[in-house]
Amino acid sequence: MQEQTLETVAIAPSSSGLGNKAALRGKRADPTEPARLRRSLQLSDISDFPQARIPSGYSEFDRVLGGGIVPGSLVLLGGDPGIGKSTLLLKTAMLLADRHPILYVAAEESGQQIKMRWQRLGGKVPEVSSEAVTSGLYLLPETDLEMILAELEALRPRVAVIDSIQALYFSALSSAPGSVAQVRECTSALMRLAKQLEITMLIVGHVTKDGSIAGPKVLEHLVDTVLQFEGDRFASHRLLRAIKNRFGATHELGVFEMVSEGLEEVKNPSALFMGDREDYAPGSATIVACEGTRPLVVELQALVSPTSYPSPRRSVTGLEFNRLTQILAVLEKRVGLPLSKFDAYVSSVGGLNVGEPAADLGVAMAIVASFRDRIVNPELVIIGEVGLGGQVRPVSQIELRLKEAAKLGFTTAIVPKGQDLSGTGVEAIAVSRVVDAIGLCLMAAPSP
Ligand SMILES: Nc1ncnc2c1ncn2[C@@H]1O[C@H](COP(=O)(O)OP(=O)(O)OP(=O)(O)O)[C@@H](O)[C@H]1O
Ligand SMILES: [Mg+2]
Repeated sequence: MQEQTLETVAIAPSSSGLGNKAALRGKRADPTEPARLRRSLQLSDISDFPQARIPSGYSEFDRVLGGGIVPGSLVLLGGDPGIGKSTLLLKTAMLLADRHPILYVAAEESGQQIKMRWQRLGGKVPEVSSEAVTSGLYLLPETDLEMILAELEALRPRVAVIDSIQALYFSALSSAPGSVAQVRECTSALMRLAKQLEITMLIVGHVTKDGSIAGPKVLEHLVDTVLQFEGDRFASHRLLRAIKNRFGATHELGVFEMVSEGLEEVKNPSALFMGDREDYAPGSATIVACEGTRPLVVELQALVSPTSYPSPRRSVTGLEFNRLTQILAVLEKRVGLPLSKFDAYVSSVGGLNVGEPAADLGVAMAIVASFRDRIVNPELVIIGEVGLGGQVRPVSQIELRLKEAAKLGFTTAIVPKGQDLSGTGVEAIAVSRVVDAIGLCLMAAPSP
């Protein structure tokens, strides 16, 4: 009796182990057992991704998406209140509606408000509505997710704009619209339908006080592309950036300008960030920043003046604060300027955020110029990262930067040693230390 039990115990695990191994090898343990359905595929069994992107007609928008709208993708657009998210997407919808049926789900505004904006953007209102759904804009002022899904299934638009995800609600959930559960559920439901029916969803998402997109972080993981629309409240230009893109490079930049007829594309954005060349004051220096693959010529301005505070003031607009303090310390220690007794203010013209280290040498030259009350040669662009030892370090995409400078009429560039490229249209003068750049950049003192 005892032996029998032992035998049973011994057989049971070994037989199941055999079954598992056989299953792993794709063989059936028992030939009479029906074969299990294999779900995995080889790459050759999978059809190619539909490469044909839909051009929106807004080339700056297409550029940020990586070359047009990908069918069936989910794009989340975040931005501060009133920055122009609805205007951007309605204008995109207008340009697309000539060729495709587009659904605009207005969850925050009335139909009349959208119509008014449409007319402000120069959109035409057809005299009679047509029965055939081949193109045109369809408006749905609705917040109920199920109604929206039903309409998407019935209309089958090419692109749907959801303005905004925080205003939608799914009635099966008890939480309020905009809550984490609601936002997550609504986005997942829209994503399933987008992939199933190949409808591109352009979704507006509000941002929280600290600038991140409201709702759970999972929202950003769920969607294919996250775009950020930003701009200075007091300036008319707006920047569109890709923060995440499953179909293209991130950190691509699109530049728009808010005018009374809506958002216009800016074809030569560098002009926005360059000050008046005729009025190049001591403390101005020009750099070439790179946003994604887009080079931008930007003027920096510095003001250095004796401090009347126990500890000197430092302030930046459009630059990294920590990099400024680092550059000031390098100039004090390696060049011998007594900057700890001076206030320093540095800003970028047009308020563009230039966070990259390639701006360091330009910042340093602007500070030295203001300190010595001398003018930096306005024909120069200055490119280079500054190390703590006062050395000038190489930067990425130097060729692209120099070509952009040449396009805008600059003749000479100060660049890090080893990156003195020829054939870009500007003369590149290589420097290895900050102190060497000073003599090359500063012009003779203006006559009194
Ligand atoms: N007639 C006009 N002329 C110039 N600019 C205008 C005009 N009407 C609106 N604007 C600009 O458009 C902005 C509002 O745009 P929009 O409603 O698209 O922003 P939004 O980001 O969708 O805002 P919200 O977060 O409230 O939805 C205003 O802040 C204003 O700058
Ligand atoms: Mg809006």
